[in-house]
Amino acid sequence: MTVHEFLDLLIRWVHLIAGIMWIGNSMLFNWLDRNLEKAAGRENEVGYEGKMWMVHSGGFYEVEKRQLSPGQMPKTLHWFKWQNFSAWASGIALLIVVYYLNGGAYLIDPSVRALGLPQAIALSVLSLVLPFTVYHFMWRTIGKSAPTVAGLVSIGALLTVTYALTQMFSGRAAYLHVGVLLGTVMTGNVWMVIVPSQRKLVAATESGQEQDYALNQRAKQRSIHNNYMTFPLLFIMLSNHFPGTYSHPLNWLVLFVLMFGGAGVRHFMNIRYSLKSTAAWLGPIVAILVVSTALLFGLTARPAVATPPPSTTALTPDKPKVAFAQVNTIIQARCTSCHSAKPTEPMFPVAPTGVMFDSPEQIVILAPRIKDRAVVTRTMPFINKTGMADDERELLGRWVDEGAHGP
Ligand code: HEC
Repeated sequence: MTVHEFLDLLIRWVHLIAGIMWIGNSMLFNWLDRNLEKAAGRENEVGYEGKMWMVHSGGFYEVEKRQLSPGQMPKTLHWFKWQNFSAWASGIALLIVVYYLNGGAYLIDPSVRALGLPQAIALSVLSLVLPFTVYHFMWRTIGKSAPTVAGLVSIGALLTVTYALTQMFSGRAAYLHVGVLLGTVMTGNVWMVIVPSQRKLVAATESGQEQDYALNQRAKQRSIHNNYMTFPLLFIMLSNHFPGTYSHPLNWLVLFVLMFGGAGVRHFMNIRYSLKSTAAWLGPIVAILVVSTALLFGLTARPAVATPPPSTTALTPDKPKVAFAQVNTIIQARCTSCHSAKPTEPMFPVAPTGVMFDSPEQIVILAPRIKDRAVVTRTMPFINKTGMADDERELLGRWVDEGAHGP
């Protein structure tokens, strides 16, 4: 294992754990808010929002939500902020390890834009700092008086940034950057708005003063933004596994549909408790899922085989079948510099994801993946580093369609 892979492993593991704790807490508190019940006789009590009973891990929990009266500060008060911070900080560390180190292998795709590494890193940092700053100050100003306008501007800005990123970086890096941006906005919301508001509420209570309701509202607004960003963010963190999304010519639009679908589902999870019947919330969720899925499939549908140019490579009945030897020659020339027990490509000292094409058996068993990556999505060879030609792709596709026979 290289030092680079070790760092990746360690930080990714921490990131996943912190992320589960952060998002898990946030989902639990959302759920609590929506399931509180007001005890009989206390419906009109000021600052009382309700209580509930739960059973978990062999015991019963009683939770009550209310505002504190002046001077009523409990001795121990638990905060939930470090889960968020550690998820974000480990995420940034992972961004550096995976995308900035390693020569920017995953960040830069010369077929999108031939950036130098320092230039690419500068753009990456800017693409996070600038949109966050604009978002934050817009919600401090316009957001207070005209939240609908600010909301629409934010969505438009997100679409613009998503598009711009796909024109700068490799598809996978562009997607990931949108995710890091959402995560950064969420973390900024926690540390620059929600936590300071809570601190002031605590200070007011401790010094025996009434709580300022506006602080509550400000924190709530950003907390709602975070709530809608969670599902899109979680998809983006998985998006590397789906080359069919990030490699699409309209990858920015595909991502937007996915973010819209994720936020839409979150919305109906939010409001379903206030709706009268199951049908009232299930209907819209199903509608959103159907629309997003249809859009996604419509957008990402590709011809089963890349249409071959008629003169040289058309599949005609009298054309001889592709021989394994032909396939093997192509794979050895275009793929094994990375996908081998001893890769020669300095970018990848070990075979990426353990995929190797050293023997005929390895090639045959991976035939469907070869077709998907080299023919359908054309995401392999990685950034077409080995200069694979179109007729070579077509030949591989034909070999797989003919049954992927070995030697
Ligand atoms: C310059 C290095 C490089 C070359 C050359 C290369 N790959 Fe890859 N390959 C990668 C990297 C990096 C990954 C892991 C990231 C990913 O999946 O996108 C990968 C992953 C894969 C995977 C596993 C993931 C999956 O979707 O199943 C397959 C299969 C694959 N490559 C096929 C090929 C084929 C076929 C070729 C030759 C036509 C090829 N690769 C050439 C770097 C390379």
